[in-house]
Amino acid sequence: MYLVRHDLALLQAPTLTPIEVPTPGLRLEELHADQLEALTETYRALGHRHPVGRPQRRFANGLRFGRLWLGGQLAGSLWVVHDKHRYLDEMNWRLPVSAQQFWLRDVFIAPALRGQRLFLQMLHLVARGWLPRFESAWSDVDWDNAASLRAHLAAGFVVRHRVRALDFNGRLRWRDPLVHWPGSVRDMQPARRWVWLAGERLRQHQAWIA
Ligand SMILES: CC(C)(COP(=O)(O)OP(=O)(O)OC[C@H]1O[C@@H](n2cnc3c(N)ncnc32)[C@H](O)[C@@H]1OP(=O)(O)O)[C@@H](O)C(=O)NCCC(=O)NCCS
Repeated sequence: MYLVRHDLALLQAPTLTPIEVPTPGLRLEELHADQLEALTETYRALGHRHPVGRPQRRFANGLRFGRLWLGGQLAGSLWVVHDKHRYLDEMNWRLPVSAQQFWLRDVFIAPALRGQRLFLQMLHLVARGWLPRFESAWSDVDWDNAASLRAHLAAGFVVRHRVRALDFNGRLRWRDPLVHWPGSVRDMQPARRWVWLAGERLRQHQAWIA
């Protein structure tokens, strides 16, 4: 029997902080589902890790992957949801994200290049290159991840919600009430504080985790 506590900040950037002096030579390259080898190589080069099977599931759930180049050097990577759903598995909420918005997932900047606002610049590249029109960006950060929270605040994000949940053995969830969300949230049992994950619901949960 185990018990895991989740404590998340949900952040929104209605506009991205303007970049005063963009870093020369910075570009974002998108990799697709048929480029898993290049993706694995990117993670290896950045010293980043991911659970087995996760990239495949992210693509299957409609997430897009980008890797950031600084000249010929890999500088970072990120996953983005837009015009799809962000399944916040810690809360079992499946939130629709419009085509004008994106939700960040698993952002990573190479350790040697941190502290230079590359995070913010990568977001500008997403907003400019991947969205038909930018309305806002969303993200979730562990409440105790201070560096990430600072990077988000510097980029123009504000904390909209702090949400918490308890996970008992991966089967039983006790969570905060659903936050106000623009768009209809149908999964999973959004009106309930307790969620029992079994049968079809468990299968769905596992398929949506991305
Ligand atoms: C979070 C992360 C993406 C931020 O990227 P970044 O380009 O370094 O962001 P910023 O340049 O805006 O720096 C953000 C904060 O990181 C901290 N920081 C600065 N230099 C740093 C360094 N060399 N190493 C680590 N953290 C540093 C500072 O607190 C800084 O805020 P400040 O400049 O206001 O003091 C990056 O730290 C990272 O990849 N972390 C590991 C993975 C992770 O936590 N991802 C986020 C998941 S939500």
